[in-house]
Amino acid sequence: MLVALGGGVVGDITGFVAATYMRGIRFMQVPTTLLAQVDSSVGGKTGVNHPLGKNMIGAFYQPSLVCIDVETLKTLPEREFFAGMGEVIKYGVIEDSELFEYLKANKESIISLGESIVHIVKRSCEIKADVVSKDELESGLRAILNYGHTMGHAVETVTGYKKYLHGEAIGIGMCAAADLAVKMGLLTQEESQAIKEMVEMYNLPGVIPNDLKIIDLINAMEVDKKARSGKLQFILPESIGTVRIENDIDREVIKDVINEHLA
Ligand SMILES: NC(=O)c1ccc[n+]([C@@H]2O[C@H](COP(=O)([O-])OP(=O)(O)OC[C@H]3O[C@@H](n4cnc5c(N)ncnc54)[C@H](O)[C@@H]3O)[C@@H](O)[C@H]2O)c1
Repeated sequence: MLVALGGGVVGDITGFVAATYMRGIRFMQVPTTLLAQVDSSVGGKTGVNHPLGKNMIGAFYQPSLVCIDVETLKTLPEREFFAGMGEVIKYGVIEDSELFEYLKANKESIISLGESIVHIVKRSCEIKADVVSKDELESGLRAILNYGHTMGHAVETVTGYKKYLHGEAIGIGMCAAADLAVKMGLLTQEESQAIKEMVEMYNLPGVIPNDLKIIDLINAMEVDKKARSGKLQFILPESIGTVRIENDIDREVIKDVINEHLA
């Protein structure tokens, strides 16, 4: 049995080795970053990057146990902590308006690792486990966990994975997807604003840096599209707590949103 003690990188590699060594041995996740505790340790996606693409080589392989101790977060650099909060905000938007409100009301307790941190880690794991148990191999519903990821991945790719941590790029992606939803008449301006304020409240970037080119971002999304489902998919909020999956949105509308979003 292997034990993945560390952040998402350690978890993904350990899981992949466990999935392939002797055609599969048991493994356990002991995540020590907020991102790994609320996201990557749950759900069974494992893998490694390849020069041809992120997570190009991997497997769906469930851990036998996920063991989380929030005490480990005491030594986590602040920037890594806030990046993990990006995924927590995501859960609030896609599934749980109460969690969203909780994040608004309990910031101090959350960032000081008080009682509230246990609540938000537990709730995030529950939401992820619930979605994954309904669609383990991402044939449909699981895609909602990718809210903020279409634009987020494009920003990560175009900036060479150097400028932003994953959760920071997701912050940008969630704000852009909210704007897209407003443009398509799905979400109110007020709710989009609430999402942006939440992203800002947890020290995450919400706008696309203006030195990035629209064409590069669109191209990165197209490459990602081919590697994934073959569709340019956006997860769009209809309200805080409900999202819908939209495929192949008009590129001009996406360009408009990027344009308006450049800082
Ligand atoms: N499998 C999935 O479903 C999934 C989901 C999201 C992200 N990911 C992957 O997860 C990875 C990102 O994970 P991450 O954000 O945990 O980054 P990470 O694993 O790179 O960890 C971030 C940094 O924190 C350090 N660290 C870890 N725990 C610490 C602690 N308790 N105290 C101090 N330092 C600590 C690490 O050594 C590293 O330098 C990416 O590769 C991403 O692709 C996977």
